[in-house]
Amino acid sequence: MDHRLSKTTLFLHWMIAINVIGLLIVGLIMHENKIYSLYPIHKSVGMLILPLALFRVYWRIKEKWPAPIHQLSQKWIRLSHISHISLLSLTLLMPITGMLMSIFSGRGLSLFSVPLIMAQQNSEGEFIELSKTWAEITHQMHFLFSDMLLFILSAHITAALIHHFFLKDNVLRRIFRI
Ligand code: HEM
Ligand code: HEM
Repeated sequence: MDHRLSKTTLFLHWMIAINVIGLLIVGLIMHENKIYSLYPIHKSVGMLILPLALFRVYWRIKEKWPAPIHQLSQKWIRLSHISHISLLSLTLLMPITGMLMSIFSGRGLSLFSVPLIMAQQNSEGEFIELSKTWAEITHQMHFLFSDMLLFILSAHITAALIHHFFLKDNVLRRIFRI
């Protein structure tokens, strides 16, 4: 059995993967080193992930899970579905918490300098929070989900390499092949 993945699945996988990996790296670097000039780029690219990730969930429901390449035990199939569902969920939760934290902290939302929700500032130029509590909660959630994403993604990439180098099957090959 060697079912090919659809072109839409491949396109969505790599469009989201490249951008999410980039956002994780930029997010960690900009936060750690306080590089504020990177924040608007991180936010705009991050917001663009949301419609792609929503479409991907719709596509996965419509198309159903890709058929496994070879006979796997139910335990492994279930584990791979749980990890893929976690990755799909986190690619939705990251942009949602990011956008909410910006809105609740009064910073508004802009897409590449086009304002979507105006920032709220006082006469001294400080941001006026919509809700201090929710700004803090969504901030913590963005950070917690990014740690979870890093962890599950490491396992995901390790699993792909194990398939390729130890199980010597076509799992890694078919995510690259059109
Ligand atoms: C170097 C990076 C990556 C590699 C090598 C990789 C590799 C793979 C492989 C081999 C599969 C299995 C396809 C099959 O069932 O045959 C897969 C599926 C999947 N990957 Fe990745 N992946 C990477 C990055 C990512 C990232 C960053 C995400 C999301 C944040 C992600 C989410 C998924 C999901 C949800 C699936 C299930 C199929 C689908 O719904 O598209 N992957 N990946
Ligand atoms: C898939 C999308 C996204 C990913 C993977 C992502 C990832 C990250 C990561 C890894 C960090 C650093 C966390 C840490 O240092 O522990 C971060 C910080 C941040 N993200 Fe995102 N992000 C995404 C989307 C967004 C969006 C849409 C917004 C806002 C509209 C946003 C706003 C921010 C802000 C403001 C920070 C810095 C917070 C601070 O310095 O205190 N992110 N992000």
